[in-house]
Amino acid sequence: MKEKIISRREFLELTAAAAGAMTLQGLGCTVNSGREDYKIFSPGQIANLQLKNRLIRSATYEGAAASGEVTDTYVKLLRDLAAGGAGMIITGVLGVFKETEYDERMVQIYDDRCINSLVRVRDEVRAADSECKLIAQMYHPGYVVGPSANNWPGKPERRALAADEITAIVTGFADAVGRVHEAGWDGVEIHAAHQYLLASFLSPYTNKREDSYGGSVENRIRIIAEIMSEARDRVGSDFMIAIKLNGTDDVDGGIDIDSFPEIVREIDQTGVDAIDVSGRNCLKPYVSTALQQSYFLQYAEAIDVDLPIILTGGNRSAELLEEIAQENKIDFFGLSRPLVREPGLPNRWLAGEGKATADCISCNGCFGIIENDSLHCIFTGT
Ligand SMILES: Cc1cc2nc3c(=O)[nH]c(=O)nc-3n(C[C@H](O)[C@H](O)[C@H](O)COP(=O)(O)O)c2cc1C
Repeated sequence: MKEKIISRREFLELTAAAAGAMTLQGLGCTVNSGREDYKIFSPGQIANLQLKNRLIRSATYEGAAASGEVTDTYVKLLRDLAAGGAGMIITGVLGVFKETEYDERMVQIYDDRCINSLVRVRDEVRAADSECKLIAQMYHPGYVVGPSANNWPGKPERRALAADEITAIVTGFADAVGRVHEAGWDGVEIHAAHQYLLASFLSPYTNKREDSYGGSVENRIRIIAEIMSEARDRVGSDFMIAIKLNGTDDVDGGIDIDSFPEIVREIDQTGVDAIDVSGRNCLKPYVSTALQQSYFLQYAEAIDVDLPIILTGGNRSAELLEEIAQENKIDFFGLSRPLVREPGLPNRWLAGEGKATADCISCNGCFGIIENDSLHCIFTGT
């Protein structure tokens, strides 16, 4: 029989495959090696920020402040995420407006007294991982009070804001962006998704205004354009400002796959640095199969502007994310619930330890928890 000469690489591949088949795979276990060469673990750029990988902790309300102040519990949550390997952490919603202060467990940033504690958070996160970027999520709850309110549409006290109220809100956002900048954080994300104030301006379903803030897309994004303009006056063009948007409102007459790209094109003109794609129905439960996962992909793929795209919602498999990343349309992936259960998931995936999917089963237990306790997984207790 003629001997076949194979390369060293082929030999290693064959022996690894054979060993896997005979031992671990034979026992029904998954054999993984490290993923150092995966695109999701390659550096990526948003504005002037260099992220060490493409996995971002999506904004997740921590419910861990006391009297609106940063606590050790809050700091530990963020430190664990940084140590766990996320390339960037987006905080849960922060309290940008005194008049919408409704939960003393939310970190309040509506006046300059917050700056020292924001500096502490920055230092602690940097100590956990000097490369991990730290982003503050800015929001106004609008007529839905509370990060976990799920009674949209139909909240009774809905009313149109007066022009001077809009002006004050624009200034409030810009002032808060200025504070985060002063505290030395890496950027902010403006929350214009789900069911909160800015999303209700963007959506034709909720925005019934007849003035210059309603009607056309240009009018519906006007409040965001004004926030961006005032914020840029305070922090300049280098400070990273991302925006989180609904690709779909999941309601007839709301934002959908056809209208979303135009909204993004208009928002691109305001000088944002990245688009984080979510949807009003963002907490889909029990996503397990590949078809159910990464469930806002089609909306993110419909975007036709040249900005970094963060895809958030149902990202559960390192292999699927890598496949999506290889298509070169999606630059970053936001993960919320999986990192509640496993703050160290990015590092685990990178090392190729265990299965390629997240342990999180998307039961939404953590979402129930934040009603009256600090963020944790109901299975791990941490
Ligand atoms: C407990 C909890 C709190 C959340 N808080 C926020 C928040 O403060 N701001 C936000 O934009 N999204 C928030 N979300 C939504 C997530 O950022 C994300 O869009 C959603 O959970 C889908 O991603 P996932 O499948 O990775 O969990 C929260 C989700 C959960 C589970």
